[in-house]
Amino acid sequence: MSVCTILRMGDARLLALAQPVTDFADPGLNVLIDDMFDTMAETGGVGLAAPQIGVGLQVVIFGFEKSERYPDAEPVPQTILINPVITLMTEEEDLGWEGCLSVPGLRGEVPRHKQIRYQGFDPQGHVIDRTVEKFHARVVQHECDHLIGKLFPMRMRDFTRFGFTDVLFPELKQDP
Ligand code: NI
Repeated sequence: MSVCTILRMGDARLLALAQPVTDFADPGLNVLIDDMFDTMAETGGVGLAAPQIGVGLQVVIFGFEKSERYPDAEPVPQTILINPVITLMTEEEDLGWEGCLSVPGLRGEVPRHKQIRYQGFDPQGHVIDRTVEKFHARVVQHECDHLIGKLFPMRMRDFTRFGFTDVLFPELKQDP
């Protein structure tokens, strides 16, 4: 288990398409997931995708009880999601502030679909199938975007709502 270096925006590996996991028995999968949790814990993030630590596989983790980065967000169950598929349940969008460990020190207001269904697998190969909304839906859309080479600024429409976290939210515990 180890804390890994998080790739930052500008690194071409963050723009690549991640490949599906095909071998759930590969012990390397559990090592990857442990490394991702260690790295997420170290940085106080609410989610992390494998490509952010340079591994081009469709694995994301997310979840928190209480986030210092997002103090107003409702809790999201701790989840390991492999080979995710997202189905939009509504065309309706919400605007909300996002940051990203690969875009340190910055936040932007990003439109996301309000309600989604996500399906995929846990590390034991069991099916995960949930319909969620609001911040939970936002986190999943953000993390799964990392698997298709998208970072949150690429989803923004209004760049007057983009800036440094310490300027926008001086009261927040600052990003690493
Ligand atoms: Ni991110």
